[in-house]
Amino acid sequence: MRRTIDWVDGAVVVIDQTALPGAYRLLELRTVGALVDAIRRLAVRGAPALGAAGALGVALAVREGGDVRAHAELIARARPTAVNLAWGVERALAKLGEGPDAVLAEALALLDEDERLNETASKHAAEVVLDACPRRPLRLLSHCNAGRLATVGWGSALGVVWHLHERGLVEEVLVDETRPLFQGARLTAWELAQANVPYRVQPDSAAAAAMARGLVDCVLVGADRIAANGDVANKIGTYGLAIAAHHHRVPFVVVAPSSTVDEHIADGTGIAIEERDAGELTHFAGVPITPPDASVFNPAFDVTPHDLVTAVVTEHGVFRGAGRSPGRLRSP
Ligand code: MRU
Repeated sequence: MRRTIDWVDGAVVVIDQTALPGAYRLLELRTVGALVDAIRRLAVRGAPALGAAGALGVALAVREGGDVRAHAELIARARPTAVNLAWGVERALAKLGEGPDAVLAEALALLDEDERLNETASKHAAEVVLDACPRRPLRLLSHCNAGRLATVGWGSALGVVWHLHERGLVEEVLVDETRPLFQGARLTAWELAQANVPYRVQPDSAAAAAMARGLVDCVLVGADRIAANGDVANKIGTYGLAIAAHHHRVPFVVVAPSSTVDEHIADGTGIAIEERDAGELTHFAGVPITPPDASVFNPAFDVTPHDLVTAVVTEHGVFRGAGRSPGRLRSP
């Protein structure tokens, strides 16, 4: 499978995630404006993929000419919650003084790293899951899309599934459809189907019932920003999942590259949460589903307190939650 996001002949090329699973098409983004629009529309999405978009966006800005720093600012602010976006922008901007080739080389190095670090993080997390969950084969629950499509390649939380599936250890993945944009039903289910991993899609509201019925051995999610104390911002609904998992004593494992850890933010209260357009809730496939003047509450993310998290795993190892003192990252 090709990379979710790459640099091809002077353009940022992304797999259009608004079109899947109905159509597999690529978007060639040749201007900063086109890239920012693609980020806002979620044509490219998922925290690590946004980090790559940020870095490649600076390379694009350099080629486009004009005020590179103003363009970089525009890219970094396209979505507020995933820290990776601004991190990717900053990394490429730091090479500005060395010229356009150095900026592009830095962005491409970030892309290479992303695949490698997510593969390593998810390998560590697979061991954590095997330690925490005695049953074989495993029944895993996934929320949103934290797969290849959310990263440059491989994936974070879904990367754990790839490792475990290779070893014949996955019975099925329960896929939360993920409201309101169906990243689970559209994207995670598509990736699992491509990889021949057995799965069932469920409404987000069925997750607690699935745990109550004993159908879930472990919840696996990615993250958009992890505060210094281990609080985790991720797709809306993650917090509710963590509460249900805690109640049912189901391990709740977060997998992310360390670029998602924001040491500048002490705890989850400092994380900016993106509010999305009302139309995502008032309309379904273009058809109105609420009274015309309905007000909506549409946060894209929520924050899960660290004491509900069994483990946050990065490429460096495990950052344990579950009420224990966070400490530093250490190897599993
Ligand atoms: O709004 P999205 O689709 O960008 O939200 C994505 C998520 O919440 C993912 O779980 C997160 O970015 C981790 S992806 C490895």
